[in-house]
Amino acid sequence: MASGSAQGKLIVCGEHAVVYGHPALAIGIDRLTTVTVERTHGPTEIVSEQGVTERLKRAVWATVGDDSFVVTIRSQIPVGRGLGSSAALSVALVRAHAACMGQVLDDETTHARSLAVETVFHGTPSGIDNAVAAHGGLVRFRRTPDGPRWTQLAVPDLRVVVLDSGLEGDTGSLVAGVRSRNPANSGILEAIGALTDPVQSALEDVGALGPLLSQNHALLRQLGVSHDRLDALVAFALDNGATGAKLAGAGGGGVVIAVSGDPNALVARADAAGIPSFVTHIRTGAP
Ligand code: MEV
Repeated sequence: MASGSAQGKLIVCGEHAVVYGHPALAIGIDRLTTVTVERTHGPTEIVSEQGVTERLKRAVWATVGDDSFVVTIRSQIPVGRGLGSSAALSVALVRAHAACMGQVLDDETTHARSLAVETVFHGTPSGIDNAVAAHGGLVRFRRTPDGPRWTQLAVPDLRVVVLDSGLEGDTGSLVAGVRSRNPANSGILEAIGALTDPVQSALEDVGALGPLLSQNHALLRQLGVSHDRLDALVAFALDNGATGAKLAGAGGGGVVIAVSGDPNALVARADAAGIPSFVTHIRTGAP
């Protein structure tokens, strides 16, 4: 029996644009998925508190095969909220299976194998979610014709408020929708990519960072991936002390992230308004 873990993520800047080769920034958060792989006799069995969907079955079979294993998934990352649940599952599964087979994987192989699993969930992932699930911290990611390039940057002193819409977004169909409107939307994607450098420079200054995040949200709205509930959460954050806010992840549901000089006060206001929320710091390195 062997296990592997990986962590959840938030995209600070550049979702969707990253699929088209623009740079993006993402952070690892303090929520883990742990997978245990155990040999058995008979067909592969999947145990998961979050339920076993057809996509999950295909992802597990693509990794361990449909025979001889029990795969147990425990996750603190809700599905469909832009928190990287499928990437964390993919990385944890690849790690657990490799450990069960006595293999030691380097970063590149872990990324390539987990991306193949993630493809079962989302069709054409850029790979940013998998890079963060595997490494945590603050990751700058870019897809190039020679493959994915990512760098782990020094972790800034940044706390992010996460506001949950309670709605599930479907990453695969949102990414496909953006593709169907391409290249008409390529100017918007370029403008999103162009925010990544300024955002990176402003990570320790919420006064400067906030408006950049709000600009990113406005561009994601134009791209057609926001939702009335997400726009309302952005407005709520701005009305309650945030310097800026944006949807994080594929959109269509999921979460909004906000930055504020007083993150705990924003969470208290969200609590009072019945909006599920939490403050997260950046977590480095999944175990
Ligand atoms: C999803 O977390 C991020 C997207 O940019 C898709 C991807 O990069 O694979 C929307």
